[in-house]
Amino acid sequence: MQSLQDQLKQKVGQAALEYVMEGEYLGVGTGSTVRYFIDALAESGIQLKGCVSSSEASTRQLIELGLKVCDLSEVKEDIPVYIDGCDEIDANFCMIKGGGGALTREKILAQASKKFVCIADKSKKVAQLGVFPLPIEVIPMAVSRVARVLETMGGKPVLRNFVTDNGNNILDIHGLKLSEPRKFEEEVNQIPGVVTCGIFARRGADVLLVGTENGVEKLLPDN
Ligand code: 5RP
Repeated sequence: MQSLQDQLKQKVGQAALEYVMEGEYLGVGTGSTVRYFIDALAESGIQLKGCVSSSEASTRQLIELGLKVCDLSEVKEDIPVYIDGCDEIDANFCMIKGGGGALTREKILAQASKKFVCIADKSKKVAQLGVFPLPIEVIPMAVSRVARVLETMGGKPVLRNFVTDNGNNILDIHGLKLSEPRKFEEEVNQIPGVVTCGIFARRGADVLLVGTENGVEKLLPDN
């Protein structure tokens, strides 16, 4: 039987169809919430110029369901809409992402899109980011060095048993209290060997759809 959380993910995935622009390119994220969105998109029959996918997993599902996938390099202007999930989101719509390991391509697509629609079940809304361990994609030769730097920044790094679509490693950083997510994102981005930090604060979401038992809430950021 489907869990309550999965029911909410499915609802919010279906609700995101409202933001899909027929005849345009669409950015597609990664994760279980996005899987429900892709199912709904395929069923909707909405015709697109193409989907730009953030992971091999989403690409496989899109192709299996008959949706057209294209490379970001084919898209000559900003993608009108990018739809993706998150692991945590605060009131300013800063997020932690990367639980599924696709953070680098997700950050590229978020940056390349005019509107980022975040789809989440209610458990993802938090007052302060950092309970969910922060994923950081790292070039393999730099893993132990980057881990030591993150320790000096107050974190407890754990190497994930996972290789990203880009052939890199992920460090999950536990124990952080991210009171200034944008500042922390910028600092982590400066560490040599870091490919992507899973904080999405410099480019957060523009719209948040939250799945609750009472329906889907549409929210805009506080500032
Ligand atoms: C993948 C992500 C996902 O959006 C995030 O992990 C949420 O996943 P789910 O929808 O399965 O809860 O950032 O890299």
